[in-house]
Amino acid sequence: ARLRPMLSLADFERRAERHLPKSIFGYVSGGVQDDLSLNDNIAAFRRITLRPRILRNVAQRSLQTTLFGQTLELPFGIAPMGFSALVAYDGDVVLGRGARAAGSIAICSAASLTPLERVAAEAESRWFQAYIPGDRARISGLLDRLRRAGFDHLVVTGDVPVAGNRENNARNGFDAPLRFTPRLIWQGVTHPRWVLGTLAREMARRGMPHFENMESVQGPPLFSRDLVRSKIGREELDWDDLRYIRDIWPGRLVVKGVLHPDDARLAQDCGCDGIIVSNHGGRQLDGAITAIDALPQIRAAVPDMTVMLDGGIRRGSDVLKAMMLGADFTFVGRPFLFAAACFGEAGVAHAFALLRDEIDRDMALLGITTPMQMREVAGPD
Ligand code: FNR
Repeated sequence: ARLRPMLSLADFERRAERHLPKSIFGYVSGGVQDDLSLNDNIAAFRRITLRPRILRNVAQRSLQTTLFGQTLELPFGIAPMGFSALVAYDGDVVLGRGARAAGSIAICSAASLTPLERVAAEAESRWFQAYIPGDRARISGLLDRLRRAGFDHLVVTGDVPVAGNRENNARNGFDAPLRFTPRLIWQGVTHPRWVLGTLAREMARRGMPHFENMESVQGPPLFSRDLVRSKIGREELDWDDLRYIRDIWPGRLVVKGVLHPDDARLAQDCGCDGIIVSNHGGRQLDGAITAIDALPQIRAAVPDMTVMLDGGIRRGSDVLKAMMLGADFTFVGRPFLFAAACFGEAGVAHAFALLRDEIDRDMALLGITTPMQMREVAGPD
């Protein structure tokens, strides 16, 4: 019943804005600098129009999608998001479980606050996104740890050589809240449901939230402005490191953050299995082209590669537009984290159902019975 007013993914964002302290909401919803790419991610999907076919008997529809040989129930999953457990109680596990229950996948973030072994065990997650350290001994240490935990899909995020300029975090005091400044205390007093339901419960379980999955590769945990601003960056990482990873990682290898067709070709040449076309949700280079605008050229550059996309997907029609322009699979970020923050696993299930139903209805209206038929809709006739 609490979920009944949630009619679209946008409703979760509006609800989360009231539920979360300003610093936390701003961290999730924000972009960088002037939010050019953040806003364009939404606008770009709105610019794309669809040309439906009629009278095509669409009674038998299926959203099933094959990804790396695995059959998923949906053509979309959940993008990796750091700090999820600070936004939603047990966020990493909740997102992973919700995705699994819906027959899809959630990628566990390197910047997660939950030990990756727990996410693997309790959510049966098999996809991990890594911020790769420059040092090879540490790379192999991380990959061993992932393999032991049971992960078999590695997503290397390549668009964070340095952290983006998140002015909104500085303005809202995002990096300071856990220092219990007067500002945090005020934000807490005015958002008691988040304090009691998320922060207090997380702290009761394991003390001050900290990075559980990066300390082994980049030194001691440090929850501070420095880490948020710069430590995640990997300035020295390059395609040679990727080739090295390819040599020692037996599972599927995916590069995230591709926006240029030449980088798609390089990923293929390095032996990667797939790419995620992404501008990081408008959180890295402000002014970066949107993933959906970059997609057609990238698809043409690597016709046989698995090409996935994220950024700005808020409707079922956005998923279908991405597939029309060449995506094999898509990921959605913020809306799922807002759903988890406000309603836990039930919220994630509801968000999956909303997007699923939108895709199903739009497929019928477009005259197709599987998401992959979007390629035909895009055709000249
Ligand atoms: C992210 N994103 C991200 N990407 C990544 O590779 N590693 C990470 O740790 C994070 N962390 C993160 C935190 C939060 C709060 C957000 C909103 C995003 C980017 C994410 O994977 C994805 O690219 C975008 O969020 C997709 O855009 P939408 O769907 O949020 O518009």
